[in-house]
Amino acid sequence: MGKIILTGDRPTGRLHIGHYVGSLRRRVELQNSGKFDKIFVMIADAQALTDNADNPEKVRQNIIEVALDYMSCGLDPEKTTLFIQSQVSELTELTFFYMNLVTVQRLQRNPTVKQEIQLRGFSDSGEENKAGTPVGFFCYPISQAADITAFKADTVPVGEDQEPMIEQTREIVRKFNSTYGVTLVEPEIMLPENAACLRLPGTDGKAKMSKSLGNCIYLSDSAEDVWAKVKGMYTDPGHLQVSDPGKVEGNTVFTYLDAFCKPEHFAKFREAFIGKKVSFEFNSLDEVKEQYRKGGLGDMMIKNFLNAVLNDTLEPIRERRKELEKNLPYVYEVLRKGSETARAVAAETLADVKRSMKINYFDPGVLDELIKEQEEKYK
Ligand code: TRP
Repeated sequence: MGKIILTGDRPTGRLHIGHYVGSLRRRVELQNSGKFDKIFVMIADAQALTDNADNPEKVRQNIIEVALDYMSCGLDPEKTTLFIQSQVSELTELTFFYMNLVTVQRLQRNPTVKQEIQLRGFSDSGEENKAGTPVGFFCYPISQAADITAFKADTVPVGEDQEPMIEQTREIVRKFNSTYGVTLVEPEIMLPENAACLRLPGTDGKAKMSKSLGNCIYLSDSAEDVWAKVKGMYTDPGHLQVSDPGKVEGNTVFTYLDAFCKPEHFAKFREAFIGKKVSFEFNSLDEVKEQYRKGGLGDMMIKNFLNAVLNDTLEPIRERRKELEKNLPYVYEVLRKGSETARAVAAETLADVKRSMKINYFDPGVLDELIKEQEEKYK
C-alpha cells in the first residue's frame, strides 16, 4: 500500500496567512513532491457544524471560500482530491462504531478539546440557560479519527494543536485492530518544519490569528488591505526613534519575515530604492535583524520590506483566485467530483470495518453462512 495523506480545515472563514505558512504551503509542496500516491484535502463542514449548529449558513458560505483559497494556493484537483466532509456519509457511520472504543473520560482529557470548550464558553453546567457542550462537539476527535482512517491515511500534515487528535486516532486504530483484527492504518502526524510557522501570531502580536480578534491577513486581501494591516502591525513598543536599539524577539514584523522572507527578496527590494533618498543595503535577514538590534533601522522600513515580501507571495495567489472566482461552476464541479471519489474510497474502508466487526450480514456469501450457523442452533 502506498503513502496516503489526509488533512483538512473547518470552513468557518476565509483562510489567512497563518493557514498558509502553517499548512497550505506545505500541502502544495507535498502534492508536488511526487512522494505520495494519494492526497485528500477535506473541507470539514460537518465538524464546523459541531459548534455552529445554529449558524449553518456561515458554514455553507465558507465552503466555497476555502475551496477558492485552496486552489489559488496551488492545490491542484488533478493531483489532490478536494472534497466536502458531509457528502461522505460513510464517515458518520465509522464515527458511530469508533465511539464504542473511546471513553468519556479519555475525551475529557483531550487538551485541545478542553481548551476549545473553555474558549467557547461551553464549560457551564449545561442546565437550562447555560451553554453546555454539544455532544457532537465533544466527540469530534472521534469523527476526526473516522476522517483519517476512512482514507487509510498514514500521514496527516496538521498544526501542533491537532496533535491530541492524531494521538486519539492512533489509540482508536490500535483498539480496533486488536479487538476486531488488523483493518485500519495507524497514522503519523506531520508537523510544520519551521518554528515560526507553527503558529503565526496576529498582526497585533497576540498569540493567534483569529477572525474575532480582527488581527488576520487573509489570502484574499487586496494589496491595499495588506499594506494597511502591515502598517498597523505590532513591533517593539520600546523602539520609538529610528536610532533606538530595537527588539527582534516578540516583534511580529520579524516573526512574519522569518516565515515569508526568501533570499531573492533582498535584491528585489534593493532595486525598489534605486534613485531614492534612502536605500536598503541588506543581503540577509540576519543582517536586517542585526541592524535593527543596534539601532538605525526604522519600523517603516522593515514594514515596507515585509509588505513587499508578503505581496511577492500573495500576488500570484490573488491572481489565481480572481480567475477562479469567475468560474464558480468549475470550482463546485471539482468539489462534487472530489466528494464522489472520496466516497468510493471511504465506502471500501467501511466495508472492511463491517467485515471485521462481522456486521456485514448481507454481503455476498455471508448471509448463506449466517443462515447455516443459525439453523444449527434450531436443529
Ligand atoms: N480539526 C481540523 C481543524 O480544525 C479539521 C479536520 C477535520 C482535520 N478532520 C480532520 C484535520 C482530519 C486533519 C485530519 O482544522
